[in-house]
Amino acid sequence: MRLVLPPDSNLTTEHPNLTNPLRSSPAAAEAAARGPPPAPTNEPFSYEGFYNAELEKKHKDKSYRYFNNINRLAKEFPRAHTASAEERVTVWCSNDYLGMGRNPHVLNSMHKTLDTYGAGAGGTRNISGHNQHAVALEDTLAKLHGKEAALVFSSCFVANDATLATLGSKMPDCVILSDSLNHASMIQGIRHSGAKKMVFKHNDMEDLETKLASLPLSTPKIIAFESVYSMCGSIAPIEKICDLSDKYGAITFLDEVHAVGMYGPHGAGVAEHLDYATWQSQDTASPQSTKGTVQDRIDIITGTLGKAYGCVGGYIAGSAAMVDTIRSLAPGFIFTTSLPPATMAGADTAIQYQSQQPRDRVLQQLHTRAVKTALKDLDIPVIPNPSHIVPLLVGDAELAKKASDKLLEEHGIYVQAINYPTVPRGEERLRITPTPGHVKPLRDHLVQAVQAVWNDLGLKRTSDWQSQGGFVGVGVEGAEAANLPIWEDAQLGLQPGESLEGAVAREFNDAASQVTLPPLKAATPLTEKAHSGMNIPVGVVA
Ligand SMILES: Cc1ncc(COP(=O)(O)O)c(C=O)c1O
Repeated sequence: MRLVLPPDSNLTTEHPNLTNPLRSSPAAAEAAARGPPPAPTNEPFSYEGFYNAELEKKHKDKSYRYFNNINRLAKEFPRAHTASAEERVTVWCSNDYLGMGRNPHVLNSMHKTLDTYGAGAGGTRNISGHNQHAVALEDTLAKLHGKEAALVFSSCFVANDATLATLGSKMPDCVILSDSLNHASMIQGIRHSGAKKMVFKHNDMEDLETKLASLPLSTPKIIAFESVYSMCGSIAPIEKICDLSDKYGAITFLDEVHAVGMYGPHGAGVAEHLDYATWQSQDTASPQSTKGTVQDRIDIITGTLGKAYGCVGGYIAGSAAMVDTIRSLAPGFIFTTSLPPATMAGADTAIQYQSQQPRDRVLQQLHTRAVKTALKDLDIPVIPNPSHIVPLLVGDAELAKKASDKLLEEHGIYVQAINYPTVPRGEERLRITPTPGHVKPLRDHLVQAVQAVWNDLGLKRTSDWQSQGGFVGVGVEGAEAANLPIWEDAQLGLQPGESLEGAVAREFNDAASQVTLPPLKAATPLTEKAHSGMNIPVGVVA
């Protein structure tokens, strides 16, 4: 079909890619007379050859990724069926850390929103994709973190990439200081920013300070780091990083992806957890000031809606001006379709549910402690850490995959092998993530299966690593003592002398006796006024 334009059309000047069929330049007429250039005679690039060569490299170094077909069953959490609908396995490596992906409140909110508002948002936030679900969710997120504002993205990968790329490219001469174990999304954002990057050794404050001190005070600097590092379970010294940030005129960019929902009295993350009593007091008649708390001191917090909150999406939270800047400038926010209304409503419900009751995260921590203790008692090499992650050191890509396959095929247990580039070569591991649903029979089964696989494959035990001088904390003297759980006994409600299983039983009994939850703020409020009128405590603004 030909495009017919009026004679006064200015399309050719405004749209260089659209030719005006009514006008033709002398150069175009000349080119038409010359005809097309002759066909080239040399060999074309072999695209398929390129793909195959790249894949061959991945196979050779054993880092080729195999995906397992695992279908997590909402009604049988944490069980799943494999490619066969009849075959059941227990999932031990999901990041649906609290089982919110099947929480009845979340599902109910999603069903209602889906039926009322349909499948998709219908556009970008700028063009028809901005709605009450986004408004409500961002309001909830800002309150959760005690910040002025929040902004939702299609994932936290995008949130990290877009925010760092935008700030790093727009702030004149910006330098980004990045922890050496930072997630690929931050590395990508820093790369996209074109800003100068300085990588400091993982959680090494001396190294960070040396690098900060080498820069003029007037230079804008962003310290980018995570709270819980997901592959080893280490936790950043957040307060010390804030101190250095203040001293050297930097801002802090904290990724709480593996902590939101799971740490702190409202599930806002490790930064909230570090001032547990202060934030907890917000739900009481005499709230303490949150000014100067660690969470308050962090400039930019990023998180996901896809892990402990069981849905999908990511966000940033911080000052109103920072959020408005990213909203206005970041292509990764501007030029993409908004999350579906049902997803935003479900995530909103999940955040509020977790902010109102800590039982899931307490059970998750108790189960984690029980699994770590049982495995350590068998000399299985658990990488010491203070968080909910249970990483088992294997130290070889092929053996890690074999161990994972054996667990699945012979024991019905799904734990993915973690290989390069997610972890450095030689540090391959199995990464176990207990949830509130991993009750004692499932835990006992896991521990027996891991023991059998370690025996069958002759994998190194803690004592073997120790005799070699220790490796990534395994078999290293003092490593356990330096990695006590960040959830303290008192915060978990552990009574003096109470066993872990006793505490688990108590938590489950309490859960059973709690018939109804406090009412949740409507996930799909009809007006902003109605929304703000439902004054349910969610985190609480500083
Ligand atoms: C530390 C960290 N940040 C960001 C992300 C990206 O989050 P999302 O899954 O929402 O894209 C991940 C994902 O695994 C992560 O581990």
